[in-house]
Amino acid sequence: MTEKTDHKTTRRGFLASGIAVGGAVASGRAAVAGEAEITEMQPWRRNLGDPVNNAPYGTPSQFEADVLRRPVAWLTPDATTAVSFTPLHALDGTITPNGLCFERHHGGVAQVDPEKYRLMINGLVDRPLIFTLQDLLRFPRENRTYFLECAANSGMEWRGVQMDGVQFTHGMIHNVEYTGVPLRYLLEEAGVQTAGKWLLAEGGDASGMSRSIPMEKALEDCLIAFKMNGEALRAEQGYPVRLVVPGWEGNMWVKWLRRLEVGDMPWHHREETSKYSDLMADGRTRRFTWEMDAKSVITTPSPQAPVLHGKGPMVLSGLAWSGRGSIPRVDVTLDGGINWHQARMDGPELDKSLRRFYYDFNWDGTALLLQSRAHDSTGYVQPTKDALRSLRGVNSNYHNNGIQTWHLGKDGRVRNVEVT
Ligand code: MTE
Ligand code: CO
Repeated sequence: MTEKTDHKTTRRGFLASGIAVGGAVASGRAAVAGEAEITEMQPWRRNLGDPVNNAPYGTPSQFEADVLRRPVAWLTPDATTAVSFTPLHALDGTITPNGLCFERHHGGVAQVDPEKYRLMINGLVDRPLIFTLQDLLRFPRENRTYFLECAANSGMEWRGVQMDGVQFTHGMIHNVEYTGVPLRYLLEEAGVQTAGKWLLAEGGDASGMSRSIPMEKALEDCLIAFKMNGEALRAEQGYPVRLVVPGWEGNMWVKWLRRLEVGDMPWHHREETSKYSDLMADGRTRRFTWEMDAKSVITTPSPQAPVLHGKGPMVLSGLAWSGRGSIPRVDVTLDGGINWHQARMDGPELDKSLRRFYYDFNWDGTALLLQSRAHDSTGYVQPTKDALRSLRGVNSNYHNNGIQTWHLGKDGRVRNVEVT
């Protein structure tokens, strides 16, 4: 593919083009304001603003109208089997606003009436049970912030550079504070029998999507969630109830959850399906790759967030996460991996949750090759894309957690590239 070769950059070639990177952050970054701009009577000072309660459910400023989740035409077979991506380049902090959480549906967005909602537990239990939403609200609940990443996130990049923005390379992820009941409480109420080692979680949407989950995980930290970031789940995220499976691939987080069946073996064995496994170079498949490996990406600068301010002080920022624990450390390189610098971590270090990092430096205006590399609390270090390919080949579409490279040009524009 010519596309691919165009985007391949060797470190040597890059260095030959000249690079010098400033170290410490410069002081005196205050911009000089034009006198006229501050003394002028701007329209928003001259006239009264909009009335209170003009928008009973608030929306973002009109000037942020292009911050939207977006689909990709060639990845959209039809509107009900589709994915839309989180605009990571426009966000900061770690919480994804509800209206911007990427969505992935196999049978469209179900509109479930909460009055008619039912959750059933059956199979190898002493007491099969049916819960209404009101029933669920009578169990003690918890608040936990977790990322959800689709196993297909970055999958389009397995065989080389494809997408021209972090929204599309990494936007099948969101990070939300969930309010919900530990699944353990419901299973205790039903009384799981000794032979009950697996759980089938089934969705109430037209796709009836279902996944098998080991009982150990179900009892450990899964939540039956009904709130996201304080308010009711959005219909797109499974209103009124979704399953939260912390750190594990998004597909298992069944939305519009209607049934939990306790069984003695996983259902995908019974169906003899190789769905949701990774195809390797030698024709074998990797199965049960549920935990999401540590990963990170620079969100600004990135192709959709170019550098508009020219050389001088720059705030580089990104996100890191791990399905196995927390993110104590992220490294950043400006020269495609020759020199690494420890990033400044900000905010709490939570398990299975996004962590924000910054690297504040003085840009001398030369071209840079930007990368970030996550370390998780188990000691695992995010690999390069080539290291992943040498292990797994290029037939996979899932679980690509390789290091992402952005080329920042002298003009401030950013391109998706790979370094060899
Ligand atoms: N649950 C049901 N019932 N139907 C679905 O289509 N899609 C799954 C999972 N749960 C799906 C589902 C997939 S592949 C992913 S990645 C996540 O939901 C996406 O969750 P989100 O739409 O909240 O981002
Ligand atoms: Co998915």
